[in-house]
Amino acid sequence: MDKKMTIWQGDITTLKVDAIVNAANKSLLGGGGVDGAIHQAAGPELLQATKKLGGAKTGEAKITKGFKLPARYVIHTVGPIYKNGLNNEAQLLAKCYKNSLALAQKHHLKTIAFSAISTGVYGYPLDEATEICVSTVKKILPEMKNVEEVIFVVFDEPTKEVYENTFEQLGI
Ligand code: APR
Repeated sequence: MDKKMTIWQGDITTLKVDAIVNAANKSLLGGGGVDGAIHQAAGPELLQATKKLGGAKTGEAKITKGFKLPARYVIHTVGPIYKNGLNNEAQLLAKCYKNSLALAQKHHLKTIAFSAISTGVYGYPLDEATEICVSTVKKILPEMKNVEEVIFVVFDEPTKEVYENTFEQLGI
């Protein structure tokens, strides 16, 4: 079947998909932004589960159940903190998407929804981050046989516009 890449505006914690991808920090013990919203919506069992994961390095991805979320699973990935673009930020951001998709493939998940990793508190310039994540997913999605749909979740209008422009530039 034809694989789909779509953009959806709203709160990722409301999505009934196989997995939502959390923009976590290295502790995996929650925080603000989308991380805070996901832990809030999933309930305290999520923190109990992430406590057992022993943290994660930048670019890594780890998976837990979704508990009270409508999503079956949460994939926790740690995006790079943007400094000046000369500290491997682009490669590390791409790794977040590659490793998250690899986990979805491994767990036979069909639908996966990404938050815009690193573009909030971690300060990644939105245009650059969006070009990296959309082109990375476009490139590797065909190899992820089990994954049928990737949803890019945007939380506000400006982010939606950048994703739509990037989709157009990449012919999606
Ligand atoms: N649903 C979807 N997207 C959301 C939501 C939500 N409920 N809340 C925030 N976002 C969006 C933000 O608007 C931004 O576009 O998620 C994107 C990522 O922003 P952050 O959550 O700030 O994540 P990040 O920039 O990767 O920083 C991670 O922030 O919250 C802490 O614990 C987290 O230390 C980690 C750091």
